[in-house]
Amino acid sequence: MCGIVGYIGRKDAKEILLHGLEKLEYRGYDSAGIYVQNKAHEGHLFKEKGRIAALREKVDTSVEASAGIGHTRWATHGAPSVRNAHPHQSASERFTIVHNGVIENYQEVKDAYLADIDLKSDTDTEIIVQLIAWFVEEDDLTTKDAFKKAIVALEGSYAIALMDSEDPDVIYAAKNKSPLLLGKGDGFNVICSDAMAMIKETDQFVELMDKEVATVTRESLVIEDFSGDVIDRDAYTAEIDSDDLEKGTYPYYMLKEIDEQPAVMRKLLQKYQDDNGDLTVDQEIVDTMLESDRIYIIAAGTSYHAGLVGKQLIESMTHIPTEVHVSSEFGYHTPILSEKPFFIFISQSGETADSRQVLVKTNALGHPSLTVTNVAGSTLSRESNFTLLLHAGPEIAVASTKAYTAQIAVLAILSEVVGKSKGLIHKGTMLHDIGIVANAMQAIVDDKEKIEELAAEYLSISRNAFYIGRGMDYHVALEAALKLKEISYIQTEGFAAGELKHGTIALIEEGTPVIALVTEKGVAGHTRGNLQETKARGAHTMVISMDGLDRPDDQIVIPHVNPLLSALVSVVPTQLLSYYCSLHRGNDVDKPRNLAKSVTVE
Ligand code: AGP
Repeated sequence: MCGIVGYIGRKDAKEILLHGLEKLEYRGYDSAGIYVQNKAHEGHLFKEKGRIAALREKVDTSVEASAGIGHTRWATHGAPSVRNAHPHQSASERFTIVHNGVIENYQEVKDAYLADIDLKSDTDTEIIVQLIAWFVEEDDLTTKDAFKKAIVALEGSYAIALMDSEDPDVIYAAKNKSPLLLGKGDGFNVICSDAMAMIKETDQFVELMDKEVATVTRESLVIEDFSGDVIDRDAYTAEIDSDDLEKGTYPYYMLKEIDEQPAVMRKLLQKYQDDNGDLTVDQEIVDTMLESDRIYIIAAGTSYHAGLVGKQLIESMTHIPTEVHVSSEFGYHTPILSEKPFFIFISQSGETADSRQVLVKTNALGHPSLTVTNVAGSTLSRESNFTLLLHAGPEIAVASTKAYTAQIAVLAILSEVVGKSKGLIHKGTMLHDIGIVANAMQAIVDDKEKIEELAAEYLSISRNAFYIGRGMDYHVALEAALKLKEISYIQTEGFAAGELKHGTIALIEEGTPVIALVTEKGVAGHTRGNLQETKARGAHTMVISMDGLDRPDDQIVIPHVNPLLSALVSVVPTQLLSYYCSLHRGNDVDKPRNLAKSVTVE
């Protein structure tokens, strides 16, 4: 959450920072700011509440500067406002910083060092810059030493960029837990939370690690540890196609990303295929999984929902018992673990702080782990033993769609490969079945006008809604409900169909939309019965069924696919229902209120 950028070079820093922030807006979008300074030591600070577009309006275009830092915010401490927007400055305005993360001991730091200073904001961030100034003034330290001393005093997560108006030719940077990249150019250097922000300037990036400090000038990037030892680290080439970062002719990224799902399925089949045309994954992953006696899937939000489907895939194809846990719960209330656990972290971004704190703990215990992520080189990917990539291309909309289906497809491929290795599966079908899924997805996205009409009919004025299902359909109901609530703001529950009558059915009123998912033969009749129970109490019911289990009145019938993979297809109409509902309500589909794409705070 929150995105930071920095540039020091020869071009117009304002424009580069603003463009970078636009690309990072998915990380937070309640306020933003930039600070630029020129060689004559003149600094200019611009901040605005709301989106980058609002900040752009506020920036004085006549200001000339070739170095600066910028920030787009997702509020943690202090309401979204100009006063709380970054960058923040020391009392003398000599030092300016941007920060992504949460300083857990900010009150203690304030009490110990800054009791006499009138803070200008309600943020935890401001104490960092005041502390740096305090160390420079009181302890007579250089800026770099004061920066180091300040960050050693901090507890929590941070990615920080610092500028000193008395030394306009350098940006200092450091990080702990929150991501930060350094980008190398010819006569310029950059910093950013995500390579996407600066890919227009360079594709050469160096990762900054925890407990390191970077000194960034026009000509050099120097990384050192806290004791001053210089660290030599090679740059890597970020493979981001700038076209993938644009919406093209789509009104919103979410619609583009829903439409891309058939292509993502096909791409995954290519990426995980060997020269003989068989599905394959790294043998070390397979062997480690085979040695384990229990799999623990750890994830949050939509990725957790993909994990629920993953459990069914893994257990049915590998017979390895599997548990799925919400990461923010697991880390602090860890169940008794089996003797040989294997951890699978599922995370689109690879940066989710809740999941990372679990990984830190499982690493400390020496348990093997795999990260299933869309972002190569992300924190979870780097810190776990193995990675399987989603190959979904950048997912920009806050509401995750193609990452969810890619996560399930990767887990299906992994399960089949492990099941084969274990001798449980003789002839794999996933290659063929996921191909069929891609075609089924295509049929649904090609018929989206019908779903738009259903969204208008069922959801345009409703206050609340329900998705119900059993088994795999229940897992999809949870994801469908999350998707609808996060972008339409309709209070939606995903519910086990059979459980409704045990209390929650009391919420059904005249006209309450209840959408049943019916793709599993063994329980289809039961789910339909539960839907009838809501209809008898006034619900406005809809059925999403699978071909073969459909009835004439069903509103949406998805093509028939391998029932183990039904989630990949049945979720697509629910994504489209959410999209159109949000659109009709006039919401910002891609940037729903209160949310951010990459959740890097606990
Ligand atoms: C999805 O629509 C959500 N925005 C959210 O639940 C997300 O899946 C969750 O924050 C986990 O993110 P991750 O996959 O990047 O770890």
